[in-house]
Amino acid sequence: MQAVILVGGQATRLRPLTINTPKSMVPVLNRPFLEYVIQNLSRHGVTEIILARHHLAGPIESYLGDGSRFGVGIRYVIEEEARGTAGAIKNVEKYLDGTFLALNGDIFSDLDITEIVRFHTEQNARATIALVPVEDPSAYGLIETDLTGRVRRFLEKPDPGEITTNLINAGTYVLEPEVLAQIPPDVQVSIERETYPLLVSSGQPVYAFSFAGYWMDVGTSEKYLQLHRDLLSGKSTWYTPGTDEEVLIGEGCSIDPTAQITGPVVIGAGCTVGEGSIVEDSVIWHDVLLGSRVRVQSSVIADNCTLNDGSIVEGTALGDHVMVVAGGRVEPGSTVEPGERVG
Ligand code: GDD
Ligand code: MG
Repeated sequence: MQAVILVGGQATRLRPLTINTPKSMVPVLNRPFLEYVIQNLSRHGVTEIILARHHLAGPIESYLGDGSRFGVGIRYVIEEEARGTAGAIKNVEKYLDGTFLALNGDIFSDLDITEIVRFHTEQNARATIALVPVEDPSAYGLIETDLTGRVRRFLEKPDPGEITTNLINAGTYVLEPEVLAQIPPDVQVSIERETYPLLVSSGQPVYAFSFAGYWMDVGTSEKYLQLHRDLLSGKSTWYTPGTDEEVLIGEGCSIDPTAQITGPVVIGAGCTVGEGSIVEDSVIWHDVLLGSRVRVQSSVIADNCTLNDGSIVEGTALGDHVMVVAGGRVEPGSTVEPGERVG
């Protein structure tokens, strides 16, 4: 089976973390996000992956290479201009052969790929969409089905008055090649706003596969932090908490014995945490330096930041290479761009 992963979005809501790091390379438990997506496909027997990309792709390619490390083959396809979620799939049509999977590249989940493909085949569907319940569907694609699971309506980003269910598009599809024939070539097309509504209104069999495992759209830095809280507390099959369950520290770190690290906390490789510093409910990427008596709380700190002695960072996300001056304070909710000097 082949899979197309869509990694062409701009990830604007995850700024400043994604200014210099593509969303797919953002670390989750110290490993690039996309690695989990690829491993989930690989463990369910997918052997060929097409990465449909548009923006900041160099680091993805150098990290994943030809995919052999993950037991898959990876082909990289660039869109000259962003084609949208259906246009990007249409753009790789010549590499596709038979029933295939298509996935949003920014979803972290335990979805059982084997089961969704089996369901799709049993229903004799033209398209099958994984479905997940959420509290507030307004930021997602709302899906109404009938009792047999057949999709009756697909409504992307519904207004509050249009919300009729809490079930939404989980961003993983099984598609038949006939779907490709209904996407116009060389233009921008949205699978959510155009292709699915068209398939449904023309009476083609589109089915929804309900799924109960862990699911998270890592759209904002708050959700990114929530993903780590969930993973460290064992809510997904991707991580089994050990004895010091809520703290994960990468290789080559130097943590002063007087520092207080209170989970959930992930610290990347090559970091230093100085005397009397406090780190709580945060994710710190690689090569970050915390001086003495620094306090970091409910924050995300990207690569190569320096937080000088006595500084405080709370409830915020710092881009890479930020420097917080000694005794400085970063106000909760502020956005700190890469390379800035603050506090
Ligand atoms: N190659 C390519 N080209 N990829 C794209 C493009 C494009 O022009 N536009 C978006 N993508 C990729 C993004 O990188 C992301 O992985 C995926 O397509 C979905 O785009 P987002 O911009 O993240 O959409 P969203 O999060 O607002 O909504 C989507 O995901 C929800 C679930 O998280 C929709 O599919 C919703 O229906 C769904 O509920
Ligand atoms: Mg998204």
